[in-house]
This record gives sequence, C-alpha cells and structure tokens, in this order.
Amino acid sequence: MSARPAFSDWMQSVQTTIERGLETFLPAEQIAPAKLHAAMRYAVLDGGKRVRPLLAFAAGELFAADPAHVTRAAAAVEMIHAYSLVHDDMPCMDDDALRRGKPTVHVHYDEATALLVGDALQAQAFMVLAEGEDEGEGQASRKLAMLRLLAEASGSLGMCGGQAIDLASVGLNLSLAELEQMHRLKTGALLRAAVLLGAWCGKALTVADTAALDAYAKAVGLAFQVVDDVLDATADSAVLGKTAGKDAADNKPTYVSILGLAESRALAEKLRQDAHAALVPYGDQAQRLRELADLIVQRQH
Ligand code: IPE
Ligand code: IPE
Ligand code: MG
Ligand code: MG
Ligand code: MG
Repeated sequence: MSARPAFSDWMQSVQTTIERGLETFLPAEQIAPAKLHAAMRYAVLDGGKRVRPLLAFAAGELFAADPAHVTRAAAAVEMIHAYSLVHDDMPCMDDDALRRGKPTVHVHYDEATALLVGDALQAQAFMVLAEGEDEGEGQASRKLAMLRLLAEASGSLGMCGGQAIDLASVGLNLSLAELEQMHRLKTGALLRAAVLLGAWCGKALTVADTAALDAYAKAVGLAFQVVDDVLDATADSAVLGKTAGKDAADNKPTYVSILGLAESRALAEKLRQDAHAALVPYGDQAQRLRELADLIVQRQH
C-alpha cells in the first residue's frame, strides 16, 4: 500500500478539486441574469475553509467512493452552506458586513440580490446532487435518499429550524439542552449530511457503519458550532474573516455565554474524543476523519 499523503497535502488537493467542481456547477457570469450569477459565484467561490466538502471526501474515501460522485455531493452541501451564510449575514438576521474576508453579499451587491443568491444556490445544490451519471442498479433509490437527506438537513428540521431558534433566542437564557438542540440543527445537521452523503457515494453501508458515522458526525457537528462560539469571543475579525464579538454584541445565547470559555473548550475537546471513539472500528482507515475532527476543534478560524 502506498503511503498516505500528509494531511495538509490531502486537504489542499480536496480544496482544489472542490473549487473546480463548484466553478463548473455554478452558472457562468456571462449567462443572464449576469448580476445574479456573478453574486452566486462571489458567495461560493474562492473562500471558506471547505470543512463540509473535506468531511464528505474523508467519509467517501473510507467507503471507496468515486471522487467524481463525492465532488457532486460535496459541492451540493457547500452550496447550501454558502446560501445559509448569505442569508445569515442579512440585516434581518445577523446583519454582518464581513464574510470570508470580503464584504457580505447584501453589502457588495444589495439585499434583494442576497435573498435571490440564497434561493438560487439552494435550488442549484439540489440540481447538482440530482444530476450526474447513472451509477447502475440500485443507484436511483440511493440518489433519492441523498436528496432527501440534504433537504432534511437544510429545512425546518435542520439548518433553517436552527436559525429560527437562534433568532427567537436573542436575549434569552437558554437551558443547556435548548442550546444544544439549536446548535445541532443550525450547524450540526449540515455537517452530518456532509459525512453521510460522502459515505453514501461509496460501497453500501452496514447498519453498524451508519451508526458509527452518525455518532462521529453528530460529535463533530456540535463541536463545530461550540468552537465557532469560542472563536467569536476570542479571535480577531482579521483572522476570522468575519466580525468577531458579534454574538455578545447581539445578545445571542452561545456556549460561551452559558458555559463560559473554559467549559466550552472542554466540551469541544470531549466531543473530539467522542468523534475519535466512534471511528475505532475502522482503525487506520479512518485517519482522515480523525484528522478532521482534530482540525474542527483545534482550528484558529
Ligand atoms: C460558519 O461556517 C458558520 C457556521 C455554521 C458556524 P464555517 O466556519 O464553515 O465558514 P466558512 O465556510 O469557512 O466560511
Ligand atoms: C450560523 O451561525 C449558522 C448558519 C446556519 C449560517 P452563526 O451566525 O454563528 O455563523 P457566523 O458566526 O455568522 O459564521
Ligand atoms: Mg447566525
Ligand atoms: Mg452569523
Ligand atoms: Mg458564529
């Protein structure tokens, strides 16, 4: 067996692949309506850590998936994520001017364009996932299950539901259980979808595989937003590429406001260990997923 590339090289190669995929799956700027297409590309391309695509590729590799299929699934998730950021930044939500180191879409373009960018990216995500070659017997029903999973993770029982709870919680003292539920929905659901969709691109999963991946995905999904809350309170806007200190300024309940910094960091570390524990059955084969759990918890932006 050939030696596995270093994590940083692997990450860079996935990021290049996903960037190329996103470029092809988004309508060209020359196609009318040019302003909308330019704004969609502005929101998606050349920015972001691409954590969800990385998770999809790592899970795909574990189940010997064809990278071309994973690229489609990963691009679809990343488009939903980019749409969620565009809407999250709008004045009716978090009212943020900076995203991925650039002016937000409603600032750079206008509010109506930002609204449409989100709507159009959501539709585009499902189109990208629905398309692609017929991969043989039984694949059509798997594709339908993938579309359903992405829809559930994006909708009122997933990301949109979490965002609704977030907006309704300003100034409230949420219980830990309520806070966890909000985070699992607004952020965890889409990260979980990234892991499962990546894996579903490969060989059929056993019930035990699904349970292990689900446990991993739930742990990293929650950890991701716990760390996002910690970074909002501790990092600089320049490093984050988005406005730091926004949660406290907006009186949002977060892990930091409810548990404090030290306990939030300890929780993220515990979730990292939970993620590792879920991967034990795969041994060395799950190294990428393990490295990604570490990255999600130890990241600085
Ligand atoms: C930010 O997500 C919003 C959350 C769901 C916490 P990311 O931290 O993944 O943002 P990008 O994609 O790297 O910009
Ligand atoms: C947003 O959470 C989660 C989404 C679904 C976009 P935040 O509001 O904390 O994300 P940031 O900090 O603005 O990236
Ligand atoms: Mg928000
Ligand atoms: Mg926000
Ligand atoms: Mg945040």
